[in-house]
Amino acid sequence: MHPVAPAPTEPPLRYGALAQAFHWAIAVLVLAAWLLSPEGPRTPPSQRQWHETIGMAVLLLSVAHLVWRIGDPRPEPPAMPRWLAWFAAMLHGLLYVALFAVPLTAIAGTWLEGHPLTLLAGVRIAPWIEPDRALGHSISELHGWLGTAMLWLAGLHAVAALVHHFVLRDGVLLSMLPGRRRDPRADA
Ligand code: HEM
Ligand code: HEM
Repeated sequence: MHPVAPAPTEPPLRYGALAQAFHWAIAVLVLAAWLLSPEGPRTPPSQRQWHETIGMAVLLLSVAHLVWRIGDPRPEPPAMPRWLAWFAAMLHGLLYVALFAVPLTAIAGTWLEGHPLTLLAGVRIAPWIEPDRALGHSISELHGWLGTAMLWLAGLHAVAALVHHFVLRDGVLLSMLPGRRRDPRADA
């Protein structure tokens, strides 16, 4: 007897509702965290608390997004030259790395400098590691640098999405947007 092959499942036309919700919530929060970045000791404490709280939300949502992504079917990429597919995959990979590296360097730097995380509603999370101020300072600087680099990457990614929509007209942008049931990659 032959084992029954599972019915081939068509890839979906769009990213799922929850994947889209994660994507757009993370995008808005990354931009907000960047706009509220502390610039030196004269930054008001409330701005620091908003920055750190929003940044922590980015970290938690990115973990949830990545876990959800494991079992969530994604749309098929449009046909494109191999180098472009490689470039797109690398850009997405770098964005995922940044979503973790930016908040984690912030936490490590803050704790190594001997400071607690200071979040909204008076939440303070004391360091879990021994201080090493010089290292903490370098890692905090790296955090600021990575945070800005991430914004440039996201900007490039957003431009690519707009090029897909308006120049290549392949519906990639629509696949990350809620909408009609027609195939967004066929009718863009
Ligand atoms: C996606 C999330 C985040 C982004 C895009 C981001 C971005 C930035 C940027 C660009 C700076 C440098 C500001 C400047 O020097 O002009 C900065 C500084 C800083 N960020 Fe974040 N950040 C994020 C998450 C976090 C988190 C989770 C914390 C929590 C500890 C945090 C704590 C800090 C602190 C304490 C500084 C000042 C560092 C210093 O003393 O030089 N950030 N951030
Ligand atoms: C900080 C901001 C952003 C971050 C961190 C981000 C991150 C990501 C990541 C990691 C993916 C890959 C999703 C996956 O395969 O699971 C993705 C996909 C996508 N993003 Fe963004 N994104 C941001 C902003 C934007 C903006 C502003 C636009 C539109 C103008 C956009 C449009 C898209 C589209 C269309 C896809 C699907 C690409 C495809 O299937 O090839 N993103 N984004």
